[in-house]
Amino acid sequence: MYLYILGRERDLCLAELESKDKNVELITEQIAVSKKLFDINNLGGTIKVGEIIANNVSSINELQKEIINHCKDIEIETKFNYGISYYGNSKINFNQIGIKLKKELKSTGLKPRFVMPSDGAILNAASIKHNKIFPDGREFIVVQSKDKMLLAVGLSFQDIDMYSKRDYEKPCRDRKVGMLPPKLSQIMINLANPDDNTVICDPFCGSGGLLMEASLMGYDSIGSDLSDDMTKCAKKNIEWFLDNFNAKGKVEILKSNDATKLKYPKESYSVVTEGFLGINFLSKPTKQLIDEQISNLKNIYVEFFKNLLLQERLPDVVCICVPFWRVNEQTIRLNLIDEIANLGYTIVEFKSARQSTLNYYREGQFTGRQIVVFKPNKEN
Ligand SMILES: C[S@@+](CC[C@H](N)C(=O)[O-])C[C@H]1O[C@@H](n2cnc3c(N)ncnc32)[C@H](O)[C@@H]1O
Repeated sequence: MYLYILGRERDLCLAELESKDKNVELITEQIAVSKKLFDINNLGGTIKVGEIIANNVSSINELQKEIINHCKDIEIETKFNYGISYYGNSKINFNQIGIKLKKELKSTGLKPRFVMPSDGAILNAASIKHNKIFPDGREFIVVQSKDKMLLAVGLSFQDIDMYSKRDYEKPCRDRKVGMLPPKLSQIMINLANPDDNTVICDPFCGSGGLLMEASLMGYDSIGSDLSDDMTKCAKKNIEWFLDNFNAKGKVEILKSNDATKLKYPKESYSVVTEGFLGINFLSKPTKQLIDEQISNLKNIYVEFFKNLLLQERLPDVVCICVPFWRVNEQTIRLNLIDEIANLGYTIVEFKSARQSTLNYYREGQFTGRQIVVFKPNKEN
């Protein structure tokens, strides 16, 4: 069994895992377990992955025994860097436990060095990396689940530096249109659950970030945008991407195109896209300004979904983010989901998260993103 420590937008992160394994189960607010092991580099919503080595640990004594037992077969000549991350509410001092373990670990022939979390009870990605806990050392992950503890060894953690490089170092960035964070692009691609040979289409591609993520995940992709400037921007970014990363899928950028009239490929494809979000409000918008946005955006989305149904080949799945607004603690939505379903689509439900809870929102911002997954009905 493997455990997955989920990111900030818990429901979204869990739905991503659920799209890969229907039997994934939440064991605490922020941690899920699955029998399957997935590559963390392709999961935007998981912070850490661990392998469970003991399920039902009822005391600290037992926990120490399990750790020693696990370590006794490890053979390394160099320093054995190890640490403990504790996910739970008890006041137990796991640093003391970690330090005490040193003596016993020495008696197994190891040269142990205990790495303490720099803050709180959890080793973060930076200290795991900096202290070279992987690949020869161990991060022991202790999870409090009801009255038992569960012990896992860390296998991988999210490579924040690589996400930042893809996000911030691309040559063309346009803050006015709001760029999709790479992690969210990965989550959306996973929510669409494409087969290996499915082409990912992004008809509102902006600066092309989602296409890069699709390529890294092994999918061919096609992007287009209404704006000529954005199309050029995406091309520039894709050139940079191909020079700097190990692209696995081909990327094609079409010349500027209106997503409400676009022609899609004849082979199997899914549409994964961050739709037009309207004005990127930098100060608090009035209700009137938002209402004006809503009628304009609704029209674009309805036409976009109608156009998809006119294609010779229908998309397998459409995973889209549409905007919502947070003003004075109130959430204002496009209220578009049912209207789209009535055109001839079925909403893909996730048991772990109701559609309305698949949100991506940063505190303090006025615009958030709601993520919805549709399948066109067969009878279309
Ligand atoms: C929110 S941005 C997408 C950003 C993109 N995901 C990124 O990371 O850069 C939405 C894009 O939709 C484009 N757009 C607006 N109306 C459109 C339409 N009718 N057809 C195609 N693209 C459109 C805008 O030019 C903008 O680049």
